[in-house]
Amino acid sequence: MKVFIAGGRGRVGSRLADTLEAKGIEAVPGGLEDGIDVLSGKGLAEALVGVDTIVNVLNTPRFDAEGAISFFEGAIDTLTAEGERAGVRHHIVLSIVGVGEGDASEIGYYLGKVAQEKAVRSASIPATIIRATQFQSYIPVLIDQHTVDGKVHAPRSYIQPVELDEVVDLLTEAVTTLEPGSEIEIAGPDRFFHDDLFRATLAHRGDRREVVTVEGQGPIEAMVPRGAHRTGVVRYPIPGIPTV
Ligand SMILES: NC(=O)c1ccc[n+]([C@@H]2O[C@H](COP(=O)([O-])OP(=O)(O)OC[C@H]3O[C@@H](n4cnc5c(N)ncnc54)[C@H](OP(=O)(O)O)[C@@H]3O)[C@@H](O)[C@H]2O)c1
Repeated sequence: MKVFIAGGRGRVGSRLADTLEAKGIEAVPGGLEDGIDVLSGKGLAEALVGVDTIVNVLNTPRFDAEGAISFFEGAIDTLTAEGERAGVRHHIVLSIVGVGEGDASEIGYYLGKVAQEKAVRSASIPATIIRATQFQSYIPVLIDQHTVDGKVHAPRSYIQPVELDEVVDLLTEAVTTLEPGSEIEIAGPDRFFHDDLFRATLAHRGDRREVVTVEGQGPIEAMVPRGAHRTGVVRYPIPGIPTV
């Protein structure tokens, strides 16, 4: 089996490549530094020769709706066109739990992920969508994203961070055993309020930024799974945070 990982040198992609290779599965990394551009299609035809499955773990620094939508949707279109020519039979996409809902419904980046899901669902290559909650290792970045004028604005809504390796394991399962057409969500074992999690993480890191609680504008559970989902076993590395 040969797998093309779009974004294969990124945070998720590089761990997935190592995991697949350890199982004896050939993993071809596809990123800009490999000379592959998923938007223009440069280098894709050659990289996809003999590939059965594409795993799409691409990312963009564009957080505005226009930039994020054109990136995520454009990449699906190009990967589908080139993948179809190469005989790819399965396109697996990593998305985020809750995008398009509640507080997240107006966030430009999340609108890009919604467009990505919609595009791959209606594309000609059978698709699987894995939706993960926020990675535990990503929480400090998330805190920075919520910081305005030195203060961290944290919604009083739920968050259930997951360990990245457990997401990689589910992507690996999607590659090796899942039939195309699945949509699966994965979250960590514990559910917190954003503001409690942010305060504890900052205190643990000796970061004195103040956390300001803001009331959520949407459902309190918008960013956590509400139906059947996989639950990871790895706990958030800071003990003592109140769970809900
Ligand atoms: N962070 C979270 O908590 C979280 C939770 C759930 C889901 N996710 C999703 O997980 C996915 C992967 O995230 P990540 O943190 O692993 O991303 P990342 O580390 O930023 O990696 C993104 C990759 O995309 C590649 N890329 C960007 N533009 C490209 C282009 N035009 N052509 C080819 N490759 C391009 C980059 O290649 P170069 O390195 O060569 O530039 C890089 O390898 C994202 O879709 C994100 O929405 C994230």
